Amino acid sequence: MAGTQQLGFMARIMARKSVAQVQRETETSELKRTLGPWNLLFLGIGCIIGAGIFVRTGNAAALHAGPAVLISYLIAGFICALAGLCYAELSSTLPVSGSAYTYSYTTVGEFAAWVMGALLLLEYGLAASVVAVGWAGYVVSLLGDYGIHIPAALTGPAGHALMEGSGTEMKPVLENGVPVITIFNLPAFLICMALAALLVIGVSESAKFNNFIVAIKTSVIVAFIIIGGWFVIEHFDTLKSNWDPFIPAATGEKGEFGWSGIMRAASIVFFAYIGFEAVSTAGQEAKNPAKDMPFGLLGSLFVCTILYILVSIVLTLLVNYKVLNVPDPVAVAVDALGPQWAWFAKIIKVGAIVGLTSVVLVLMYGQTRIFYTMARDGLLPRIFSTIHPKFKTPWINTILVGLITAFAAGFFDINTLGDMTSVGTLAAFAIVCLSVMWLRRTHPDIPRGYRVPFYPVVPILGIVFCIGLIFSVETRVLIFFGWYTLAMVILYFVYGMHNSQLQHGEPAIDAPEMTELPGPVVD
Ligand code: ALA
Repeated sequence: MAGTQQLGFMARIMARKSVAQVQRETETSELKRTLGPWNLLFLGIGCIIGAGIFVRTGNAAALHAGPAVLISYLIAGFICALAGLCYAELSSTLPVSGSAYTYSYTTVGEFAAWVMGALLLLEYGLAASVVAVGWAGYVVSLLGDYGIHIPAALTGPAGHALMEGSGTEMKPVLENGVPVITIFNLPAFLICMALAALLVIGVSESAKFNNFIVAIKTSVIVAFIIIGGWFVIEHFDTLKSNWDPFIPAATGEKGEFGWSGIMRAASIVFFAYIGFEAVSTAGQEAKNPAKDMPFGLLGSLFVCTILYILVSIVLTLLVNYKVLNVPDPVAVAVDALGPQWAWFAKIIKVGAIVGLTSVVLVLMYGQTRIFYTMARDGLLPRIFSTIHPKFKTPWINTILVGLITAFAAGFFDINTLGDMTSVGTLAAFAIVCLSVMWLRRTHPDIPRGYRVPFYPVVPILGIVFCIGLIFSVETRVLIFFGWYTLAMVILYFVYGMHNSQLQHGEPAIDAPEMTELPGPVVD
């Protein structure tokens, strides 16, 4: 690809890093291969379980699918499994850091890599904001249990009327007879800035710490399933009415109950699965990528699908779906067990807060790493790869990521942010499925540790289902996504294309020494 100044337009935007170069980089990687299959599985679960199950399930059930949110979870899980199989093939063939961005750069080419970078900003950066808003919901609720009240106007997105009560009983919160309009979500803003500060000074996830957090949040979820499930069995005769009807009748509005509601809810709960692909970012540190990457990717997806389905069954049987449109739906369901279980609701809240904190941290960390890789390739200004002399971290990049996520979390509502994340991630998954097909065609003979079964049915179905689910999202979000993509495409032609290292035939900038190497650090 050297000396590309004279290359035609198509050749420029499809300039690729060579597979041989990427595989050589892998062989000469200085990262230690210390992650075994179980570490990779826990890494996946650590990123997956977060605001999706703890917060967004409530909205999906209450406003879109009712108890049939269970079917939505199955649909979203199936789509993720298709994408997961494609991730497994790519990550066992090209076990590099940088994940989907690098896969696109190596297969489809630079323009696709740029678009992937823009989508990953939604998948990681914006997802961090969503989880931060979910975190804030549980924090405000827990503080409220202890009589500590943050001013109501500072607990929600700009310009929203604060509501109280649940289901059909929802009414605006009044102060001096006037409805409270929220201006800013202060706790969500603060957690993003605090975690960015931690990342600047070099705190990162260690595998042991990650395993500890995973243990806390899965224990909380399993305890909810067991205690709530036991209560449901004991009171099944009364509670079974909460599943009647299982699929509430469509209202006539697209996305409100009936099958269109189930699909809308699938696009919402799809958020709950985002994160399994983080396993693929640890490609250079896996002991045996060919076997362990597919195990970590598909295993974490499988475990979470089972947990999610059980949680949705218990949640929608314990309480009527109409009361679940709250910031802390799992705790609300526990309240239904009776006052003697109030301590358990508090444990759920603490578990959710701890679990969500680590998801925000990992997502922000992933975002800084993607920006860092793109800056090294010349696609972003070099300031994004500037390393702090003392902390040895990409500090300016991290502060910028902190500010972007904090402002998004402070001013926007969780549903809009979450839908944008889902759309961006679905588009990214579709490109990953396409990359598998591309690589099979252009490099049929390179060694592949794992091969997608039923090729080409799986990647084709992956592309079709991902695109299909994108169109079940609210129209205003789709329009916003269209403008975002257009702006990013223009930016490529204005900036990226002219500064790319690959276009100028220059070698990638040598990585300055960082204390935090890409990928999870292992104790
Ligand atoms: N899947 C992650 C969550 O639900 C992003 O928070």
